[in-house]
Amino acid sequence: MTNRTPLIAGNWKMNLDHLQAIALVQKLSWTLNDADHDFGEVEVVVFPPFTDLRSAQTLIDAEKFEIKLGAQDLSQHASGAYTGEISGQMLSKLNVEYVLVGHSERRTYHAEDDSVVQQKVAAAWENNLIPIICVGETLEELETQGQSAVPIIQTINALSGHKVLGDFVIAYEPVWAIGTGKVATAQEASEVATAIRKALQANFGDDAANSRILYGGSVKANNVAGFLQSEQVDGVLVGGASLDAEEFSGISRFKKHIVL
Ligand code: 13P
Repeated sequence: MTNRTPLIAGNWKMNLDHLQAIALVQKLSWTLNDADHDFGEVEVVVFPPFTDLRSAQTLIDAEKFEIKLGAQDLSQHASGAYTGEISGQMLSKLNVEYVLVGHSERRTYHAEDDSVVQQKVAAAWENNLIPIICVGETLEELETQGQSAVPIIQTINALSGHKVLGDFVIAYEPVWAIGTGKVATAQEASEVATAIRKALQANFGDDAANSRILYGGSVKANNVAGFLQSEQVDGVLVGGASLDAEEFSGISRFKKHIVL
């Protein structure tokens, strides 16, 4: 057993308006509360679009729900003439605790490279947000460089050049497994998580190596337990399946599927 609290993160991507967000957060909380979910034992965080955050936060506060809030991105800048951007300070005012940084869709469609990701990690720490740094290889990179090379380089680049490291989470999401129905095997996820942890240890020391490492890519209630059976995998980052309260609740309740 490790002392790392499992983290179940739901990335809604560009889905659901603020009214739909309220309905989903409500249903998810009720479903988990009905199941007596212990949020201290397994953390559950949702990552709605920016326009939903205020509604979700108001609901979570009013109902004293234990679900936590995350954002899907933040600007690397503190403020100023950056039309369309959202700052870390704006997010932390909304009680956002986590922020995704360097998701493969941001890297692919918005040209975010490792340097931007590194600056966004710094911006998150400036504002007391915990960055979930997303790393992963494309199918081509998998074939030419092997399974861990790209995730390791992306991890090291995101964390290099900071005076001190704040808390962070790494999410290993093989690009070829995102939204494709193709899932890495539990063994592959475990091997890459192990390799990332070794790189964290070698480059940044013990505390960094004890950070949580998640797997993401076509995770569902019926395959989550396999990933979390590994001591190296501390949670999952879920896309499509996080839009369904029953399914995401089933993923959050993964422990009941694990035979020890
Ligand atoms: P899917 O679970 O839909 O494959 O998405 C994974 C993901 O990108 C989560 O950030």
